[in-house]
Amino acid sequence: MIRLERVSKTYPHRDEPALKRVSLHVAPGEFVYLTGHSGAGKTTLLRLLYGAEMPSRGRVLVGNTDLGRLAPRHLPLLRRRLGLVFQDFRLLPRRSVFENVALSLEVAGLDRRTVAHRVAEVLEQVKLSHLAQAPADTLSGGEQQRVALARALAPGPDLILADEPTGNLDPDNALAMMRLLVGDYVGGATVVVATHDPTLLSLVRGGRVVHLDRGRLEETA
Ligand SMILES: Nc1ncnc2c1ncn2[C@@H]1O[C@H](COP(=O)(O)OP(=O)(O)OP(=O)(O)O)[C@@H](O)[C@H]1O
Ligand SMILES: [Mg+2]
Repeated sequence: MIRLERVSKTYPHRDEPALKRVSLHVAPGEFVYLTGHSGAGKTTLLRLLYGAEMPSRGRVLVGNTDLGRLAPRHLPLLRRRLGLVFQDFRLLPRRSVFENVALSLEVAGLDRRTVAHRVAEVLEQVKLSHLAQAPADTLSGGEQQRVALARALAPGPDLILADEPTGNLDPDNALAMMRLLVGDYVGGATVVVATHDPTLLSLVRGGRVVHLDRGRLEETA
């Protein structure tokens, strides 16, 4: 699903590369934790995977798509197969929970009945059916984060990329969030979660851990 081949990334006006000859292979359906200290390159690696940054060297492949060769106009097509979850939820604050989740399906061109059915389904999965009509900005942090997850899951993505998805959550909600990401909800998708919180790793078993140390990748069992 994901293949990085000796990928280096050096940002403009920086001497030290953010990623140094990183090679990584993630099989379809695999769950991967991406860990490392602040500044180690976690966000950079995820941004390469959804085409927000280009590698300075090496190749980045998602599915059969070589992102280094992808024309910018084809980027929206790739993004539609991805579910992205960020630390700051980036919800539309005045819109209802329902509308926030529906939007990702409407842009994919689905008809209203299909959209309504699918939104109801994912809201039930994240246990938010009762708040479907509430404006997003009236929800608690944990509830908003679950809306963000529902929004990412709704189109049935092949690949879910989450950058510190539990960063704003208390320990209970953080654990609940991780359980949603490792559970059946993701429908067999490949999942990569960047987190610098080691307690989460010990709480949620069964994932592969990939560690970045100042731009270099190490695999730990
Ligand atoms: N747009 C940018 N321009 C220049 N340097 C950048 C840019 N984005 C990130 N960097 C640098 O690249 C390195 C890796 O940053 P990155 O955001 O990938 O780290 P991170 O592991 O996600 O850290 P954190 O845990 O704090 O989110 C850092 O040294 C950072 O300063
Ligand atoms: Mg980061």
